Amino acid sequence: MTPFSGIVIHGLKRGKEFGFPTANILLDQTDATIEPGVYATELTLDNEKHQGMLYVGTRPTLNLSKRSVEIHIFNFNRSIYGIQIQFYVLKKIRGDQRFNSIEELIAQIENDQAAIKAFFETNS
Ligand SMILES: Cc1cc2nc3c(=O)[nH]c(=O)nc-3n(C[C@H](O)[C@H](O)[C@H](O)COP(=O)(O)O)c2cc1C
Repeated sequence: MTPFSGIVIHGLKRGKEFGFPTANILLDQTDATIEPGVYATELTLDNEKHQGMLYVGTRPTLNLSKRSVEIHIFNFNRSIYGIQIQFYVLKKIRGDQRFNSIEELIAQIENDQAAIKAFFETNS
Protein backbone atom coordinates (compact mmCIF):
# COMPACT_ATOMS: atom_id res chain seq x y z
CA MET A 1 0.00 0.00 0.00
CA THR A 2 1.46 3.42 -0.89
CA PRO A 3 0.91 6.14 1.67
CA PHE A 4 -0.48 9.56 0.97
CA SER A 5 1.72 12.46 1.89
CA GLY A 6 1.44 16.17 2.43
CA ILE A 7 2.41 19.16 4.46
CA VAL A 8 0.59 20.35 7.57
CA ILE A 9 -1.06 23.73 7.00
CA HIS A 10 -3.07 26.08 9.18
CA GLY A 11 -6.76 25.27 9.35
CA LEU A 12 -9.51 27.37 10.87
CA LYS A 13 -8.42 26.39 14.41
CA ARG A 14 -11.96 25.38 15.29
CA GLY A 15 -10.97 21.80 16.02
CA LYS A 16 -9.15 22.87 19.15
CA GLU A 17 -12.33 24.47 20.50
CA PHE A 18 -14.14 21.19 19.82
CA GLY A 19 -11.62 19.21 21.83
CA PHE A 20 -10.34 17.50 18.67
CA PRO A 21 -7.50 19.55 17.20
CA THR A 22 -6.57 18.46 13.69
CA ALA A 23 -3.57 18.71 11.44
CA ASN A 24 -4.91 20.08 8.15
CA ILE A 25 -3.04 18.59 5.23
CA LEU A 26 -2.18 19.90 1.80
CA LEU A 27 -1.78 16.69 -0.19
CA ASP A 28 1.23 16.21 -2.46
CA GLN A 29 -0.91 14.04 -4.71
CA THR A 30 -3.05 16.82 -6.17
CA ASP A 31 -5.13 14.33 -8.13
CA ALA A 32 -5.54 12.03 -5.14
CA THR A 33 -8.99 10.80 -4.50
CA ILE A 34 -9.92 9.78 -1.02
CA GLU A 35 -13.66 9.39 -0.81
CA PRO A 36 -15.22 11.79 1.71
CA GLY A 37 -15.54 10.21 5.14
CA VAL A 38 -13.89 9.30 8.43
CA TYR A 39 -11.11 6.72 8.55
CA ALA A 40 -8.64 5.05 10.89
CA THR A 41 -5.21 6.25 9.84
CA GLU A 42 -1.62 5.45 10.69
CA LEU A 43 0.89 8.18 10.05
CA THR A 44 4.57 8.93 10.22
CA LEU A 45 6.07 12.23 11.19
CA ASP A 46 9.68 12.81 12.22
CA ASN A 47 10.23 9.05 11.82
CA GLU A 48 7.65 8.33 14.51
CA LYS A 49 4.49 6.32 13.95
CA HIS A 50 1.17 7.55 15.29
CA GLN A 51 -2.45 6.53 15.05
CA GLY A 52 -5.37 8.83 14.51
CA MET A 53 -8.61 9.71 12.75
CA LEU A 54 -8.64 11.06 9.21
CA TYR A 55 -11.51 13.27 8.03
CA VAL A 56 -11.99 14.09 4.36
CA GLY A 57 -14.94 16.29 3.55
CA THR A 58 -16.32 19.78 3.10
CA ARG A 59 -17.22 20.37 6.79
CA PRO A 60 -20.90 20.90 5.95
CA THR A 61 -21.76 21.40 9.62
CA LEU A 62 -19.77 24.64 9.50
CA ASN A 63 -21.40 25.58 6.17
CA LEU A 64 -18.09 25.23 4.37
CA SER A 65 -17.76 23.76 0.89
CA LYS A 66 -14.08 23.26 0.04
CA ARG A 67 -12.55 19.84 0.56
CA SER A 68 -10.56 19.57 3.74
CA VAL A 69 -8.18 16.73 4.65
CA GLU A 70 -7.51 16.63 8.40
CA ILE A 71 -6.08 14.25 10.95
CA HIS A 72 -6.66 14.17 14.68
CA ILE A 73 -3.59 12.39 16.07
CA PHE A 74 -4.13 10.38 19.25
CA ASN A 75 -2.12 11.36 22.34
CA PHE A 76 -0.43 14.24 20.60
CA ASN A 77 -0.32 17.97 21.21
CA ARG A 78 2.74 19.31 19.44
CA SER A 79 2.62 22.09 16.88
CA ILE A 80 3.55 20.56 13.54
CA TYR A 81 2.82 23.27 11.00
CA GLY A 82 5.01 23.00 7.93
CA ILE A 83 5.98 19.42 8.68
CA GLN A 84 5.72 16.71 6.03
CA ILE A 85 3.64 13.70 6.99
CA GLN A 86 2.81 10.38 5.42
CA PHE A 87 -0.35 8.49 6.19
CA TYR A 88 -2.15 5.27 5.35
CA VAL A 89 -5.92 5.21 4.94
CA LEU A 90 -6.81 2.03 6.80
CA LYS A 91 -10.51 1.67 7.48
CA LYS A 92 -13.59 3.73 6.66
CA ILE A 93 -15.93 4.31 9.59
CA ARG A 94 -18.62 6.48 7.95
CA GLY A 95 -19.27 9.14 5.30
CA ASP A 96 -19.23 12.94 5.59
CA GLN A 97 -22.36 14.27 7.33
CA ARG A 98 -24.03 17.55 8.15
CA PHE A 99 -25.07 17.88 11.79
CA ASN A 100 -27.63 20.32 13.17
CA SER A 101 -25.28 21.55 15.86
CA ILE A 102 -21.62 21.51 16.87
CA GLU A 103 -22.65 19.46 19.95
CA GLU A 104 -24.01 16.70 17.70
CA LEU A 105 -20.83 16.78 15.61
CA ILE A 106 -18.68 16.47 18.75
CA ALA A 107 -20.81 13.57 20.05
CA GLN A 108 -20.34 11.80 16.70
CA ILE A 109 -16.57 12.42 16.71
CA GLU A 110 -16.47 10.84 20.20
CA ASN A 111 -18.20 7.76 18.74
CA ASP A 112 -15.75 7.75 15.81
CA GLN A 113 -12.88 7.82 18.29
CA ALA A 114 -14.26 4.81 20.18
CA ALA A 115 -14.73 2.87 16.92
CA ILE A 116 -11.27 3.72 15.61
CA LYS A 117 -9.53 2.90 18.90
CA ALA A 118 -11.36 -0.45 18.92
CA PHE A 119 -10.15 -1.03 15.35
CA PHE A 120 -6.53 -0.43 16.38
CA GLU A 121 -6.89 -2.69 19.40
CA THR A 122 -7.76 -5.62 17.19
CA ASN A 123 -5.56 -4.68 14.22
CA SER A 124 -2.15 -3.63 15.50
C1 LIG B 1 -12.92 12.37 13.21
C2 LIG B 1 -13.52 13.62 12.62
C3 LIG B 1 -14.77 13.54 12.01
C4 LIG B 1 -15.37 14.68 11.47
N1 LIG B 1 -16.60 14.58 10.89
C5 LIG B 1 -17.20 15.68 10.40
C6 LIG B 1 -18.51 15.59 9.80
O1 LIG B 1 -19.11 14.51 9.67
N2 LIG B 1 -19.08 16.73 9.35
C7 LIG B 1 -18.46 17.95 9.44
O2 LIG B 1 -19.04 18.94 9.03
N3 LIG B 1 -17.21 18.07 9.97
C8 LIG B 1 -16.58 16.96 10.45
N4 LIG B 1 -15.32 17.05 11.00
C9 LIG B 1 -14.55 18.28 10.75
C10 LIG B 1 -14.64 19.29 11.83
O3 LIG B 1 -15.72 20.12 11.49
C11 LIG B 1 -13.31 20.04 11.75
O4 LIG B 1 -12.31 19.28 12.33
C12 LIG B 1 -13.40 21.36 12.38
O5 LIG B 1 -14.12 22.18 11.52
C13 LIG B 1 -12.04 22.01 12.62
O6 LIG B 1 -11.46 22.46 11.43
P1 LIG B 1 -10.10 23.27 11.47
O7 LIG B 1 -9.00 22.30 11.83
O8 LIG B 1 -9.92 23.83 10.08
O9 LIG B 1 -10.29 24.31 12.49
C14 LIG B 1 -14.70 15.93 11.52
C15 LIG B 1 -13.42 15.99 12.12
C16 LIG B 1 -12.84 14.86 12.67
C17 LIG B 1 -11.49 14.95 13.32
